[in-house]
Amino acid sequence: MIKLKSKREIDLMHKAGQLLANCHKEIAKRIKPGVTTFEINSFVDKYLSEHGATPEQKGYKGYEYATCASINDEICHGFPRHTPLKNGDIVTIDMVVNLNGALADSAWSYAVGEVSDEAAKLLQVTEESLNRAIEKAVIGNRLGDIGHVIQSYVEGEGFSVVRDFTGHGIGETIHESPTILHYGEPNKGLRIKEGMVFTIEPMVNIGSWESKMDDNGWTARTIDGKLSAQYEHTIAITKEGPIILTKQ
Ligand code: MF3
Ligand code: CO
Repeated sequence: MIKLKSKREIDLMHKAGQLLANCHKEIAKRIKPGVTTFEINSFVDKYLSEHGATPEQKGYKGYEYATCASINDEICHGFPRHTPLKNGDIVTIDMVVNLNGALADSAWSYAVGEVSDEAAKLLQVTEESLNRAIEKAVIGNRLGDIGHVIQSYVEGEGFSVVRDFTGHGIGETIHESPTILHYGEPNKGLRIKEGMVFTIEPMVNIGSWESKMDDNGWTARTIDGKLSAQYEHTIAITKEGPIILTKQ
């Protein structure tokens, strides 16, 4: 069942999203060679508590951290760790903020120092695929329109789209209906309605789209060891078009 949100609920989620966006802007200043994702995670914990919010991921299905921090070939749900980031790495920080019971979810990939041209292109194409998808998130379109624009653009640039993880509705809990596929066919799938709030979060790989799971049961990485990037926004569907609740 899809729970459509009122203007009031969307406003509250927007406040959570703005806090999350500001937190990402602070992270951007802190990502550099030598910094650890554990330090970034501690910063997020502190930042959220100073702003009256809590990290919704901590304790979610036994997950132990405020953030997911996925480095290089890690697709998603990497654990923050004490190994310093190196020049040339890419790292995705993903988090869900709870502000007064309202949630927002946004992941962002960052370049560490100077990255290769290929890595830079991966970041740029992945972010652009999210922007193109958001433009399709209008009343009357179908979810397949979103998936299709991501897949056709990404594959046209020579990269691939991860299939094993999806976007999702979000509200009182992190994962609600509907499921948002980042691939698909135009004019297929559910019709997009006013009051829907969901994430779009394409994970894009340089090589194969296939993933494998680490022994920790959480972290997915590319099957071929090549790089993966991800950008995610939480968006609300309104008569005036999509509102990016986590816009930076
Ligand atoms: N933003 C993440 C997602 O939608 C949240 C995962 S929950 C966690 O996949 F516990 F893994 F962090
Ligand atoms: Co998400």
